[in-house]
Amino acid sequence: MSSTTPRSSGRPLALVTGASAGIGYELARLFARHGYDLVATGRSGNIHQAAAAFEKDGAQVIPVQADLADYDGVEAVWQAVHATGRPLAAAVLNAGRSIAGSFLDTDLDDELGLIALNVTSVVHLAKRVARHMAANRSGRILITSSLSATLPTPYETVYGPSRAFTRMFALALREELKGHGVSVTTLLPGATDSDFHARAGMGNTAFGAGMKKNSRAQVARQGFKAMLAGRAQVVGGDSATKLTYVKHHILPETRKAARHARMAKPRP
Ligand SMILES: NC(=O)c1ccc[n+]([C@@H]2O[C@H](COP(=O)([O-])OP(=O)(O)OC[C@H]3O[C@@H](n4cnc5c(N)ncnc54)[C@H](OP(=O)(O)O)[C@@H]3O)[C@@H](O)[C@H]2O)c1
Repeated sequence: MSSTTPRSSGRPLALVTGASAGIGYELARLFARHGYDLVATGRSGNIHQAAAAFEKDGAQVIPVQADLADYDGVEAVWQAVHATGRPLAAAVLNAGRSIAGSFLDTDLDDELGLIALNVTSVVHLAKRVARHMAANRSGRILITSSLSATLPTPYETVYGPSRAFTRMFALALREELKGHGVSVTTLLPGATDSDFHARAGMGNTAFGAGMKKNSRAQVARQGFKAMLAGRAQVVGGDSATKLTYVKHHILPETRKAARHARMAKPRP
């Protein structure tokens, strides 16, 4: 875990987790370009290069390298925010990952680590962020879930349920915080062009290199805009992705499960 000394400025402050890559990197860049300073987090040392890029866009950035699957890692992120002494105007709880493969073969500790990141860290950080923003009677929270929250996800057996939790948690929190001056927006990206599928070990599936995916920059823009507008949720991606979301309301769970299994099952 590491962070740099906070500095003060007249700009609003935003927290973005998973800002070292993918959708989170693009979101952090949007905040920088829209006049925010940042506490930007990543698991790897890449967060330091990312921070340098956001600074070129005019932001003061506090990079925090921390494992959010770890309780102390989440606390380190919150301490970096707290140490600024500044009100948090926006918080994006975005870091997350998947694990591909048959549940009979995947590693239990790895899956418990996924739950620690995708579920536990979101609740943990949201507790700190929500209380802070409610006390200030101001703030915007964006929580990255997934289109996978709307179906069973065989061969990513634990991932879809983890994002379903995130989605319902965000929508519940939104309702509770309505009277406190704080908005909560859920981002539901469809398949997006980032390192996500490769890191999950999905290279040998329909989600591998050949698949047409949504632009991470577009998904980030949609999330950013929805968050600023205080919307409940937004589907991230093109019109086909948005249509899939609508279809998922009427298709039986069993049919969606069979379709996802065909796409996510490793090819022989
Ligand atoms: N890409 C998609 O198709 C897709 C679709 C729907 C939803 N999503 C959701 O979008 C979010 C972002 O995914 P992405 O596509 O941008 O993936 P990505 O390119 O793999 O980026 C993931 C980010 O999360 C960070 N991270 C991973 N494990 C972490 C840990 N244990 N502790 C702290 N940070 C950690 C990574 O840090 P390092 O890079 O420094 O390791 C990176 O910044 C995830 O929550 C994912 O569930 C993605």
